[in-house]
Amino acid sequence: MMKGTNIDKFRIVDHLGRGFFGEVILCYDPYLQKEIAVKVIKVPSPEEFVNAVKEGRTLDLVRHKHIVDVKDVRVTEFREERVVIIVMEYLSKGAIQKHIEKRFISVKEACRIIQQSLLGLEHAHNNNILHRDVKPGNILFGDNGEAKLSDFGLAINYHSDLGGTFGYIPHQPLEVIEGNAMNRQSDIYATGITLYRLLNNTNNLQFNFTSKDEWIKAVRKDQFPPRRYLDHIPEKVLKVLNRAIHKSTTTRFQSCRDFRQALEKLNFNIDWVCVDDDNWMGRNNGDTFTLHRYRKRTGWVIDFKKNGTRRSGCCLSSLPDNKADEEFFKIIKSTNLI
Ligand SMILES: Nc1ncnc2c1ncn2[C@@H]1O[C@H](COP(=O)(O)OP(=O)(O)OP(=O)(O)O)[C@@H](O)[C@H]1O
Ligand SMILES: [Mg+2]
Repeated sequence: MMKGTNIDKFRIVDHLGRGFFGEVILCYDPYLQKEIAVKVIKVPSPEEFVNAVKEGRTLDLVRHKHIVDVKDVRVTEFREERVVIIVMEYLSKGAIQKHIEKRFISVKEACRIIQQSLLGLEHAHNNNILHRDVKPGNILFGDNGEAKLSDFGLAINYHSDLGGTFGYIPHQPLEVIEGNAMNRQSDIYATGITLYRLLNNTNNLQFNFTSKDEWIKAVRKDQFPPRRYLDHIPEKVLKVLNRAIHKSTTTRFQSCRDFRQALEKLNFNIDWVCVDDDNWMGRNNGDTFTLHRYRKRTGWVIDFKKNGTRRSGCCLSSLPDNKADEEFFKIIKSTNLI
């Protein structure tokens, strides 16, 4: 990283990340006297790219508290090349993709992130703008932990410039793989797959098909992504998820609003977080709950505590090996929602 040098009028501070189309650099704006993030994109015709973005008025139309604020898009010279730079607000907490790698995301947090992202997406859809690339790398946390969608509507410009299909391929719904144009429901599907990844705490979708046919077949049979979920996710949440990622566009949510409202109907109780295989911790309204399991000679014991006090009515003992998992997650699932 060329720290200390400049990009356009901004001083380079640090490297923030790299995506498929370019890199994101933390810079200092000497005029506004604050840090900003600059995304550098290399495209064959930078001027046309910028014109397309500006003509579409995308930047003005997608201003919303759940959308990353883009201050400018322009052509500049960088490392002796003409590149497009996207100047945006710097969000120090970064993309949710990094959080999935680093820590456990609870069901409640996953649903909250998607509910907020859907508010941003709905705003764009109302202005006839599609995102086309919803994924964990494109949802960032704001300073107050709120979710913000980034890289809005830009996919269409850089992907078409490069002549490929747009969007992150594993997040494409069946109808798009089959050749139909992207629309609001393909954004909804991609948001659903993002929820799938948050709930399952995984960044790895195991997309390793050798042909398009193989991929289409897997999507048709609900084998991609595999309908396998972590044991702690309640059925009601999976029902919402399955409507968001349904292969049939009539069953899939028709609008961001429908999807969001289905999430808002979930009534959360204890917000459980995995500490390790045998210990979970949860919070609700200032109360702290713990669930601990261990093996005795007589079988498995499950201890449920509220604020450090054992609640015998919720505890179990003498469980055989094959029941320990089931009973443990039954308690988590049944107390996660009201
Ligand atoms: N405004 C921002 N503030 C702070 N960090 C950012 C900002 N924008 C992007 N980043 C960081 O830079 C990383 C790379 O972003 P980038 O958009 O280039 O890649 P991507 O979304 O993973 O892939 P793609 O090239 O398809 O957009 C992000 O994952 C995030 O960690
Ligand atoms: Mg991105």
